[in-house]
Amino acid sequence: MDMNLYMQSLLVANPLRESTLRTVIETLQLPLGSSGLDAGCGIGLQCMLLAEAVGSTGHVTGLDISPELLNRGKEIVKEAGLSERISFQVGDVTNIPFDNETFDWAWSADCIGYGPWEPLPLLKELSRVVKPGGMVAISGWSSENLLPGYPRLEAHLRSTSGGMAPFIHGKSPKTHFLRALSWFREAGLKEPNAKVFANSFHAPLRRDIRNALVDLFTMRWPEGELELSSEDLEEFRSLCQPESPGFILNLSNYYAFFTHTLFWGKTPA
Ligand SMILES: C[S@@+](CC[C@H](N)C(=O)[O-])C[C@H]1O[C@@H](n2cnc3c(N)ncnc32)[C@H](O)[C@@H]1O
Repeated sequence: MDMNLYMQSLLVANPLRESTLRTVIETLQLPLGSSGLDAGCGIGLQCMLLAEAVGSTGHVTGLDISPELLNRGKEIVKEAGLSERISFQVGDVTNIPFDNETFDWAWSADCIGYGPWEPLPLLKELSRVVKPGGMVAISGWSSENLLPGYPRLEAHLRSTSGGMAPFIHGKSPKTHFLRALSWFREAGLKEPNAKVFANSFHAPLRRDIRNALVDLFTMRWPEGELELSSEDLEEFRSLCQPESPGFILNLSNYYAFFTHTLFWGKTPA
């Protein structure tokens, strides 16, 4: 994977996600002054939201497998003046390099439960590093409606590999992100809970939102990999490619929405 491109796409996508993820994090009511882990933190964009939530006496540790992403994260956090409140650690979410009961809470966005791994052992590993009675939370992108007026094409796109990623057709339904409540129960977490958060955008689109949507179209529906009929492909090219005169983001009344889902629970006291 080209890490520079990946870092760029996390930054480009951020305007679509930031305000929703801030609300998601507020829902958790993390205690002021608490310390927590962001597992699979990427370039640390949610570390900053988590640091906001726990206030100036709290602390966030961002963990990621990629040193390049963490180095970029360090720069971003420094520019934001948050270096004292956020630290980074290279490590693997399948074997988190911290002792049992290190943190008051642990969080993971679009990583744990959302990747190619078996989710239950990962959730247990995340819970292991949280103190008794602490919070364990995972969140993930859970749906989108991006093609108003074209429900058939959008349904077909949703059933392509890119459209249903990171889930893979044929995998056990129990491993689908929206089945996470059962993992929380099986991991012995208390008071498992789930909530959906929606966000919407409409024309006229801000430049950064438009760029993020263009990036999203390309990422979810890479043309070379689309399993579409020739009729769908023609409609897709006309509606979803920025150079097309019929590009859907040019509609004067364009409207789109999508959701993130949060699952959370507590370690036994
Ligand atoms: C989709 S990104 C999400 C990044 C960040 N949480 C966000 O939402 O902006 C998934 C992240 O998980 C990290 N990751 C993948 N496998 C990992 C592993 N085994 N251990 C730790 N991090 C991992 C990737 O490097 C990437 O930063």
